[in-house]
Amino acid sequence: MKKKFIGANWKMNLLQSELEVLLLELSSISIQEDAPEFVIFPSQIYLSDCINRSNLSFGAQDIHSENFGAYTGAVSAEQVKSTGAKFVLVGHSERRSIFQESNTLIKNKVDAAVNASLELVFCCGESLDKRDAVTEKEFVLSQLKEGILHLSAEKISTCVIAYEPIWAIGTGKVANSQQIEEMHTFIRETRVHQYGAEIANSIRIIYGGSCTPSNAREIFSLNNVDGGLIGGASLNFESMTTLLNSF
Ligand code: PGA
Repeated sequence: MKKKFIGANWKMNLLQSELEVLLLELSSISIQEDAPEFVIFPSQIYLSDCINRSNLSFGAQDIHSENFGAYTGAVSAEQVKSTGAKFVLVGHSERRSIFQESNTLIKNKVDAAVNASLELVFCCGESLDKRDAVTEKEFVLSQLKEGILHLSAEKISTCVIAYEPIWAIGTGKVANSQQIEEMHTFIRETRVHQYGAEIANSIRIIYGGSCTPSNAREIFSLNNVDGGLIGGASLNFESMTTLLNSF
């Protein structure tokens, strides 16, 4: 059976000393056989330190699409892989909007990640405008088509797709159960057409956007929801442990 997945996206939060405290607390959790796969995405500068201090799994919040070269300030997939990190987030809406990342750039990052054997958490999700115009499904499908659906069945089966409606991220405005289930089922069913049922069912589709201990159990029980990508609520030990136990 495929494992559920919980990602803790720490974004540009936590000083070294704060991170050490939280990491120590989280590392004390005893992970049971049937527990979700738990991956932390700290700021890149802390990645090696986290890996050396803890036996939890880690990933990078972003990569450059090139492997090496004169790209001051950037970090490549190969470099992330060489720290021992297993995962990378690609296509987060904050990267798409604040850093103006296009679908083409995101596709190149997807390829860089796959070539470096990093596991991908590919983010997609619509703005409120798109939802109000009832074009959210076409929009999310175009993000998937232009960003990740060129991957072979073998490659895509190990990917995690995070559906994160932009209007729900960091706003406290969570999507309702019907909206989440409809979009996740749509993503799953369109993948069945492309890759067949076995591969489509092996892809984990997780939800992100104001997911907290008080709504997680309901969200994680929905059809085609295989876990969550958690921002704000992942910065606190108590809420993180509740979230991990919400299946
Ligand atoms: P949030 O962020 O949980 O704070 O809404 C989720 C995300 O950006 O991945």
